[in-house]
Amino acid sequence: MPETSNKSWQCPHCRLPLRKQQQQWLCAQNHSFDCARQGYVNLLPSHKKHSKQPGDNAEMVQARSRFLDAGFYLPLRQQLCTISKQYLTDAKGAWLDAGCGEGWYTSAIAQSIAQLTAFAFDISKPAINACCKRNSSINDTGFVSTDMNNTAMDSTVRASSTALDSKSTDDELVSNGSVEWAVASVADIPLLENSQTMILSIFSRIDWPEFARVLQDNGIVISVSPGSDHLIELRQAIYNDVRPYQVDKTLNELPDYIEPIELQRCHFEIKLKSPSEIHDLLAMTPHYWNISPQQREQLSERMHLTTRVDFRIQIFRHKPSFPTSGIWKNLSNKGNVSK
Ligand SMILES: C[S@@+](CC[C@H](N)C(=O)[O-])C[C@H]1O[C@@H](n2cnc3c(N)ncnc32)[C@H](O)[C@@H]1O
Ligand SMILES: [Zn+2]
Repeated sequence: MPETSNKSWQCPHCRLPLRKQQQQWLCAQNHSFDCARQGYVNLLPSHKKHSKQPGDNAEMVQARSRFLDAGFYLPLRQQLCTISKQYLTDAKGAWLDAGCGEGWYTSAIAQSIAQLTAFAFDISKPAINACCKRNSSINDTGFVSTDMNNTAMDSTVRASSTALDSKSTDDELVSNGSVEWAVASVADIPLLENSQTMILSIFSRIDWPEFARVLQDNGIVISVSPGSDHLIELRQAIYNDVRPYQVDKTLNELPDYIEPIELQRCHFEIKLKSPSEIHDLLAMTPHYWNISPQQREQLSERMHLTTRVDFRIQIFRHKPSFPTSGIWKNLSNKGNVSK
């Protein structure tokens, strides 16, 4: 077996490293996984699927792609590029985007820390398809072409985030930061133990035992979750009684082997200027599925909506000297996130 170390996927059947040979990923026990023509590999065994088409469906993926490509969340992406660069200036090895959606954040961050190998997976096939499509649209000028057409930014996004880098458009420059894409689950990450320097989790599920298994000692997790004012005006348009978002229990009750090291905020205002933009934002949120057809109808009659977005960016560290195999799932969940 050639040197694969931290730069390879792991076989979901026997846990040996996979190596790429032409259009297949193979392990030493001859389990093989075809690369789809779009460029990803499916490492989610069918017996581990809880439904026929797990994760976000094509409609949700398309709505989120349209919304993100319009640039409404660009300040968040730029802040994530800046943080990744700050934490990983001298780092080598690999990093992972777990639950990467359409890869809108992944590709830009991969380019800003191009010295590391990037892995990204999502349980949704339509989402991973969209990642591959997006990657193939990165053009020769070094920019993601979909963002080049973005006219929404100037007039609609007013960033008030304190950590924004004034030269942040540099973060969009492409070097050779390509990404390995896969269909897989956060509950069973197809990567080797101690192989990752960073895991990114944006509005996605965190599985601490799995994250700790694949993270190196002192490896970091960057998590993005909603702050209390997130989409507050959108929620006021839907509900009579709007409560602040609660911090997710997974982020508040940390296991012993995970240490919180930093909390940053990113908040700004977005102006949606058409029913279709309002629809796309709504379709990205759980509210879309919670409201009645009547409420959806009411919202669809609105021509514009200005709403605050409020993101909590939390950075955690994997404490060294915890055992690296076998018992992760049994470790107790204790501790608190510092505010
Ligand atoms: C709210 S979206 C966020 C996507 C992306 N990180 C972003 O911010 O644009 C959550 C994503 O998690 C994926 N997902 C849900 N359960 C998952 C699991 N068990 N493993 C991996 N991905 C999962 C969904 O398919 C969806 O793409
Ligand atoms: Zn195998």
